[in-house]
Amino acid sequence: MSEPVVILPRHVGVIMDGNGRWAQARGLPRIEGHRQGAAAVRATVRAARQIGVRVLTLFAFSEQNWRRPPGEIGALMELLLRYVIDERAEILDNDIRLVAIGELGRLPPRVRGALDELCAASAKNRTMTLCLALSYGGREDLVQAARQIAERATRGEIRPDDVSAALLESMLLSRELGDLDLLIRTSGERRISNFLLWPAAYAELYFSEALWPDFGRADLEAAIDDYRGRQRRFGRTAEQVES
Ligand code: FPP
Repeated sequence: MSEPVVILPRHVGVIMDGNGRWAQARGLPRIEGHRQGAAAVRATVRAARQIGVRVLTLFAFSEQNWRRPPGEIGALMELLLRYVIDERAEILDNDIRLVAIGELGRLPPRVRGALDELCAASAKNRTMTLCLALSYGGREDLVQAARQIAERATRGEIRPDDVSAALLESMLLSRELGDLDLLIRTSGERRISNFLLWPAAYAELYFSEALWPDFGRADLEAAIDDYRGRQRRFGRTAEQVES
């Protein structure tokens, strides 16, 4: 008997929400929630690789998160630095390619340096791409792409008719990740919050009640199981898709 075909989402994105509430519920400072959140990141990356997800994008710090209190921002940056240092062997030994998207120039130089180094060291890895969205905003990405197009038009390199979805997409920071198949948001909130706006055009949305620090392999599997039950029509009718 042949093996059943398992349809996996190629690209999974996660809005990791609920760290603050997790800490608050325990009478702990918010940063404790972020610390546990970093542990959930480790577990989720490992599970995604084992399940066979090809691209995992984690919304680790949004462009808008710079509005948070400086102490919380500093603590998040330290956690990121620790993650990049501590996970080096896990990433390299498991053939994971690390990439980062966002306005990375705003990150503290130590964080940027460590991140760039591990991205370069893992650049040839192929089993899974782990993308950290840092200082990232979907609108901001579209704006910088539009600016590049305007600059090229001003130089006379393209005409208005040359502007296509493919051209715009080729200028996005997220261009090499491809379309998002499954977007997971934790903590019961039901928003996209400026995450991967263009790649999420046809993403299946999955909202988990788990707070991010409690999210684990079973939650990821539940989301993927749910995804596998969806019918993706991309504008076609159900009958067309079924035939
Ligand atoms: C949202 O929860 C979470 C964040 C803004 C930061 C996410 C960061 C991590 C998971 C840890 C560090 C990341 C890595 C990659 C090591 P919230 O603080 O908005 O929670 P709340 O809505 O309950 O207040």
